[in-house]
Amino acid sequence: MTNVQTGILAPTPNVARYLTFSLRAGAEPKRALSALVELADGDSMVVGFGESLVRSGGGEVPGLRVFPTHFGKGLVIPSTAAALWCWLRGDDRGKLLHSGRKCINAVSSAFVLDSIIDGFLFDGGRDLSGFVDGTENPKGKKAADAAIVRGQGAGLDGSSFVAVQRWVHDFERLDAIPPREQDNAIGRRRSDDKELGSAPASAHVKRTAQESFAPEAFVLRRSMPWADGNSGGLNFVAFGKSLDAFEAQLKRMVGAEDGISDALFKFTRPVTGSYFWCPPMAQNRLDLRALGL
Ligand code: HEM
Repeated sequence: MTNVQTGILAPTPNVARYLTFSLRAGAEPKRALSALVELADGDSMVVGFGESLVRSGGGEVPGLRVFPTHFGKGLVIPSTAAALWCWLRGDDRGKLLHSGRKCINAVSSAFVLDSIIDGFLFDGGRDLSGFVDGTENPKGKKAADAAIVRGQGAGLDGSSFVAVQRWVHDFERLDAIPPREQDNAIGRRRSDDKELGSAPASAHVKRTAQESFAPEAFVLRRSMPWADGNSGGLNFVAFGKSLDAFEAQLKRMVGAEDGISDALFKFTRPVTGSYFWCPPMAQNRLDLRALGL
C-alpha cells in the first residue's frame, strides 16, 4: 500500500523514541507542519495528530476524538490529550537522538514538547514482565484490514488511528506474585507463550480476546518496552481503522461489562492515554488534505 505510513505495518524496530507535543497558546501550526512534512517519511518517523491540532485549522477527521477517562474498581485510566505524536524508529539510539532534535526544532514555532519516551526491543519481543507481546496480532492483509482506513475518500484512505498509553510496571509487586499466578494473570505461559485455556476470566488475553467482541475487535499492536532510570513498563501502541476496537477492549479490561478487572492491574497501571490520527502518504509525503493543508 503506497499511501500508508509504512512504519505502522512494519515490525517494531530495535529502538524507538516517542515525542509528544502540545500546541503553543495561540499558535498557527501551518509553518511547523510544513517543516515536519520535510522530515517525516512515514517509516523512520510515523506521525499522528490529536483532535486539537486537526481542529485548529478547521479540519475534520471523522472518528477522531479525545481519549476518554475510564474507571473501574480502584482504577482510573487517565486521559492526557496531546496535539502531535512522532514515533521515531531505528536501530541506533544516537541517530534517534539527532533525528529527534531535528524534529523538535522543526516544529518548535507552534508546538511545545511534552514528553520523550525511549522504547526498545526486549528479549526478542517480550514485555518487561517477561511475557511475549504481540503473538495474536493480525498478520499480512489482516493487519492492514484492522489498522488502515479504506473507503472514506482521498485524504483519509490509507490513514490510521492510534491509541497510545504509557504503562508503568511495579516490578516488586510482579516479583511477589507466584509464577503460576503470573501466567494466569496474562492467560499465557511465560516460558513458551502457550495459551492457558484454564486461566480465569480476569486473564488479560481473555479480557481482550479479539474474536469475542461483537463486532470483532481487531487492532494492530505495536507496543514497545520503555525504561528510564530504574523505572520501566510498556509504551502501549495500538493502530486501528477506527478507535472503537481499542475502546471496547479497554472497557472490558476495567470491568465495565461484568465487574471483573484485568489481572494486569495487579502489577501495572497506565499514566497517560491519548488518541491520534496518522495521516496517509501521497507522493512519499504526509497527505495533510484532511487538515485543509
Ligand atoms: C502493560 C500493559 C499491557 C501488557 C504488559 C500487555 C501484554 C500482553 C500480552 C503478554 C499478551 C499475550 C500475547 C499477545 O497476543 O500479544 C497480550 C495480548 C493482547 N493484549 Fe495486551 N498488554 C497490555 C495492555 C493492553 C491494552 C491496554 C490493550 C487494549 C486495550 C491490550 C490488548 C491486547 C490484545 C487485543 C491482545 C490479544 C488478545 C487475543 O486476541 O488473544 N493490551 N497483551
